[in-house]
Amino acid sequence: MGRIFSGIQPTNRLHLGNYLGALKNWVTMQRTTEHDCIFCVVDLHAITVPQDPAQLAQSTREMAAAYIAAGIDPVKSIVFPQSAVPEHSQLMWLLSTITQIGKLDRMTQFKDKAGKNAEKTGLGLYAYPVLMAADILLYKATHVPVGEDQKQHVELAREIVGTFTHRFGELFPEPEPIIRAQGARIMSLRDGSAKMSKSAESDMSRINMTDDADLIAQKFKKAKTDADSVPSSVEEWEGRPEAKNLLTIYAELAEEPMETVFRQFGGQQFSALKTALADLAVEKLAPISQEMNRLMNDVTEIDRILKDGAQRAREIATPVLKDVQDRMGFLRL
Ligand code: TRP
Repeated sequence: MGRIFSGIQPTNRLHLGNYLGALKNWVTMQRTTEHDCIFCVVDLHAITVPQDPAQLAQSTREMAAAYIAAGIDPVKSIVFPQSAVPEHSQLMWLLSTITQIGKLDRMTQFKDKAGKNAEKTGLGLYAYPVLMAADILLYKATHVPVGEDQKQHVELAREIVGTFTHRFGELFPEPEPIIRAQGARIMSLRDGSAKMSKSAESDMSRINMTDDADLIAQKFKKAKTDADSVPSSVEEWEGRPEAKNLLTIYAELAEEPMETVFRQFGGQQFSALKTALADLAVEKLAPISQEMNRLMNDVTEIDRILKDGAQRAREIATPVLKDVQDRMGFLRL
């Protein structure tokens, strides 16, 4: 049987893009797959850019609460914070010795995040993909659901498996990325060509999972559109990224095929689509944000869930790390 592994960084402010782009798919996978599922809150990855130490623990709990509120069952799946399983860091070091820096140099996320300041950037940001490979390999994961932007990192993990097998023999399966369909990328409400993001300066550009009904309605009402009516086919939304985005969000939230959504709104004014979107978003997100709030008011319960998850994760990770150490020939005392 295979195993699914994925993670999100606890850099607070969960928004609709994270939910539709990642969490909602995990929930579907958890329901439909034969494989074990492991969903990690990757706090060690988060600190590759500066984090406020006074916030990190709470952000980690909050992301775990979001997983659970969205429908991840922490009994069926394993939910835990990366830092609670020290084997991630340990395996990362071992893997770093068989990762060519020439390959890391090609990683586009590092180039984007480091920008012109690469000289002053922390080593951790550069080594980020090696830690991600360690996350995946530590559980011998076979499937890794990620966004398009992480595909290159999963490919690097596959190459690291290849090198490991060549040097030390077969131990790890080659993990397969499961990439979300292109159409479901959720874009900013202010600019249909930019990803919806927690770091965009205007809060009006995103729907946060914690926004109340009024704010959600207001954000959709003010969302950028064009002067035409709502497109009624894929051909018609060509060159109209804002229209495409709103229709995509609707289809994803309603869990309806795009054809149905085209039939429902095509040819109408955008105001009709926006009102329907606001209602639908409130209906779908309110129960999740309520459950998140309930969980966040019971820190003892979240911590208990995470501790249990970490323990179950370690039961898998410890023997795998031992195998790697043995293959590499370390003294066992
Ligand atoms: N880098 C991933 C992201 O930003 C998060 C992540 C860390 C991850 N480790 C992982 C995803 C392992 C899948 C598997 O989206």
